Amino acid sequence: MPPTHVPLALGSVLLLLLQLLSPTSAFFPNIWSLLAAPGSVTHQDLTEAAALNVTLQLFLERPPPGRPPLRLEDFLGRTLLADDLFASYFGPGSPSRRFRAALGEVSRANAAQDFLPTSRNDPDLHFDAERLGQGRTRLVGALREALVAAQAGDHALARQRLGAALHALQQDFYSHSNWVELGQQRPHPHLLWPRQELGNLAQVGDPTCADCEELSCPGNLLGFTRLTSGYFGTYPSKPPGKCSHGGRFDQSSSQPPRGGINKDSTAPGFSPHHTLHLQAAELALLASIQAFGLLRSRLGDRGFSRLLDITPASSLSFVLDTTGSMGEEINAAKIQARHIVEQRRGGPMEPGHYVLVPFHDPGFGPVFTTSDPDSFWQQLNEIQAVGGGDEPEMSLSALELALLHTPPLSDIFVFTDASPKDAFLTRRVGALAQERRCRVTFLVTEDPSRAQRRVRREVLSPLRFEPYEVVALASGGEVIFTKDQHIRDVATVVGDSTADLVALPLEPPVLVPGRPLVFTVDGLLRRVTVRIHGEVRSFWIRNPAGVSQGQEEGQGSLGHTRRFGQFWMVSMNDPPQTGTWEIQVTAEGNTRVRVQAQTALDFLFHFGIPVEDGPHPGLYPVTQPVAGLRTQLLIEVTGLHPGGRREGPLPHFSHVVLRGVPGGAELGRVPLEPSGAPERGLLVASLPPPLLSTAGPFALELLGRDGGGRDLRRAAPQPCRVAPVLLELSGPAGFLAPGSKAPLSLRIASFSGPRDLDLRTWVNASFALTSNLSRVRLEHNESAWGRLWLEVPESAALDSVVTVTVAAMGREARPVPPTHAFLRLLVLGPDPQDQLAVPAHSSGPVLTKASPTLPPSPLVTRGRAGGGLAGNPWWGTVAGVLLLLGLASW
Ligand SMILES: *[C@@H]1O[C@H](CO)[C@@H](O)[C@H](O)[C@H]1NC(C)=O
Ligand SMILES: *[C@@H]1O[C@H](CO)[C@@H](O)[C@H](O)[C@H]1NC(C)=O
Ligand SMILES: *[C@@H]1O[C@H](CO)[C@@H](O)[C@H](O)[C@H]1NC(C)=O
Ligand SMILES: *[C@@H]1O[C@H](CO)[C@@H](O)[C@H](O)[C@H]1NC(C)=O
Repeated sequence: MPPTHVPLALGSVLLLLLQLLSPTSAFFPNIWSLLAAPGSVTHQDLTEAAALNVTLQLFLERPPPGRPPLRLEDFLGRTLLADDLFASYFGPGSPSRRFRAALGEVSRANAAQDFLPTSRNDPDLHFDAERLGQGRTRLVGALREALVAAQAGDHALARQRLGAALHALQQDFYSHSNWVELGQQRPHPHLLWPRQELGNLAQVGDPTCADCEELSCPGNLLGFTRLTSGYFGTYPSKPPGKCSHGGRFDQSSSQPPRGGINKDSTAPGFSPHHTLHLQAAELALLASIQAFGLLRSRLGDRGFSRLLDITPASSLSFVLDTTGSMGEEINAAKIQARHIVEQRRGGPMEPGHYVLVPFHDPGFGPVFTTSDPDSFWQQLNEIQAVGGGDEPEMSLSALELALLHTPPLSDIFVFTDASPKDAFLTRRVGALAQERRCRVTFLVTEDPSRAQRRVRREVLSPLRFEPYEVVALASGGEVIFTKDQHIRDVATVVGDSTADLVALPLEPPVLVPGRPLVFTVDGLLRRVTVRIHGEVRSFWIRNPAGVSQGQEEGQGSLGHTRRFGQFWMVSMNDPPQTGTWEIQVTAEGNTRVRVQAQTALDFLFHFGIPVEDGPHPGLYPVTQPVAGLRTQLLIEVTGLHPGGRREGPLPHFSHVVLRGVPGGAELGRVPLEPSGAPERGLLVASLPPPLLSTAGPFALELLGRDGGGRDLRRAAPQPCRVAPVLLELSGPAGFLAPGSKAPLSLRIASFSGPRDLDLRTWVNASFALTSNLSRVRLEHNESAWGRLWLEVPESAALDSVVTVTVAAMGREARPVPPTHAFLRLLVLGPDPQDQLAVPAHSSGPVLTKASPTLPPSPLVTRGRAGGGLAGNPWWGTVAGVLLLLGLASW
């Protein structure tokens, strides 16, 4: 079939997509892969291209308040980039990192379907083995879960389920079935609609494929008009006359009829129908756009924006101690919140999400979350400091609750004057903060005059705040000690953080007596602030021209200095001079220095383990590098086009430096290889093997040059750690039904010598959780499998999310830090009716309906979103979207 019937616009999108792929990138799951299939379109490419297409659509339909509307012509015929879209819509320099991180979550969940033990071999999840009806049921189920999770406000889970759905939709249907070979040039019209027939399916006895002994099998499908798909491996076994998936890892393809039909890549060795790869990818892109469009229409524009974090603004998340002594702190939090809300109201930097968790001995919570600044303000205002409590408080439990409800890449502020009673949670909370990439800052007011107000059972240990230090360090935040009279001023750090400041790397990273601290300012930085905190005797700051300024308060030659007790803040004048700056501090005890600045040029990072065997080689996404396993580091630079312009030389990052934390010793320096077109900002490096035996945390620092050849440095906000073992926790393929017992599977493997481990499990709901693996001894290269059973009570709240946590802790004398795995699962009623169901006449009269009224609140309730009958405004949008897609013939 000639490939020329492809709609023009789409063809060019794909062409551009292809241009972005480097010759070595290939195969399906994600950017890194085998050398074998240059020019293949990956799941990640498709997911991003589709999300950007729908985001642009949204931007075009909702002109930005106070800014010129976007014009489609400006974007046609070029690859869509998140930075460009953000600069055009929210204004130049608007950071796109949250949006890109959200897309990354979807893409990684998508890729994980090919690697996780519970999903990689399940034919239903991949449209293999002619299980097309089952595949569709799973696909629609995953999309429905994504929808419900988003409506319930759990966007992490929603993105995961969306990734799973897109995986099935993209690769699996269009690449594994013969839809393309049947001459179809549009996505399957009924794939997303569970009530409609899939149509003409090949029956049990129908032979579908002829024998093919070549790698490439263009004509092996028997002249035949029914829909079928290939069998893979040995389960289920291939009946006589049926097609195989094909490719070198598919055992079934060596049995007659030999060969296969997959279109996963452009490589004949993997894909007997490689010549149809691009056609399959085109349909997969259209189908993905449709799926995003469907979610947008169900969630409304605000809900959809939250699902993909289509905002430059961060969220505001407070954990507040409400014991009697906390009046001043609570007031400080209120003042900050009010200030931020008022200053940013209606603008692009207005926080889109607010979280509040109170705690008061002995309780904590409940968590309050909203996207409405007024109700946040009201809730905060109702908080009063009442009664006395014991000194230690359940502060880490409260923080854990906040972490479970705060979007990734956010700052969380804990206001307290007490140490934690639940210090046993320290590691788990630190791991969760790392997984969520949230920075935690503790504002601790220690006031001796308070001794009478707090009932104290024992003499306080000077180390009692240590758990806060551990969590702050793990998350990239800090612990700021202050006093009552200063808390209001010190709390202005809250405003700084929500203004999206990045921390600049310091050399050395911690204060060494007699040595200056050095940092580099580049031309892309604004609002540089220096914070010094401790028993400072004196300090000075010197710019590259040799101008210096001391600790005097007020305006100096370089900037403005404010002092609140032991906390100093120096705001440098804009624009700061570029080059090398120095800070010299003379101080007692533990003094910290932190330099922050505003910039759109920043980066996200991920880790992946190259998996070369199996049907879909690629990078298996992991949250941490694993000791002894070759691990790749993926860097995604954001803000390369802060003004949305593409002219001129781009900044370029060439190396990543790995440093021990907190000492700063250089552990390695690895070159970064661009993956794909430079404007996309994707870089890859192999972590050096010696690093993978490091026990301590390490920090990532990116080195490069700007368009003018001047030095650029950026530091990751949080340190990373090498996990001593690989810990994989995966759930059932679908949701949790009340009254059921759900099996979870756990795999633990050591690649760095023998390990003796204890395993602990938790669930953040009162569900029973049992495991057949509580202790394990692993030899080098050995794995153990465990089964967990989660009992979901009849009374479990529908549409609620539970988090299961597993920790593996070393039993050796020299304890290795625990490794954690987190799994989110959705409790859902068994009734899938109406969720995504479509009335039979969907392209009928509803088409003419006016566009829907957008729900005032992003949290569309289930009752409101349900229905699915003609006259429901939802259908108006779907029909509208379909029209836009040129698919009105449905
Ligand atoms: C978005 O995708 C549709 C095809 O579904 C295409 O017609 C349109 O041109 C795309 N938009 C852009 C800006 O590429
Ligand atoms: C573990 O597996 C790796 C890779 O297969 C191999 O190189 C190594 O020798 C193995 N080590 C041991 C102790 O078995
Ligand atoms: C736990 O149960 C699973 C599934 O029944 C089994 O595969 C695994 O080997 C068991 N693990 C242990 C340690 O008994
Ligand atoms: C458990 O964690 C999830 C987030 O993953 C959250 O949505 C849910 O509300 C939590 N449940 C409870 C009871 O806190």
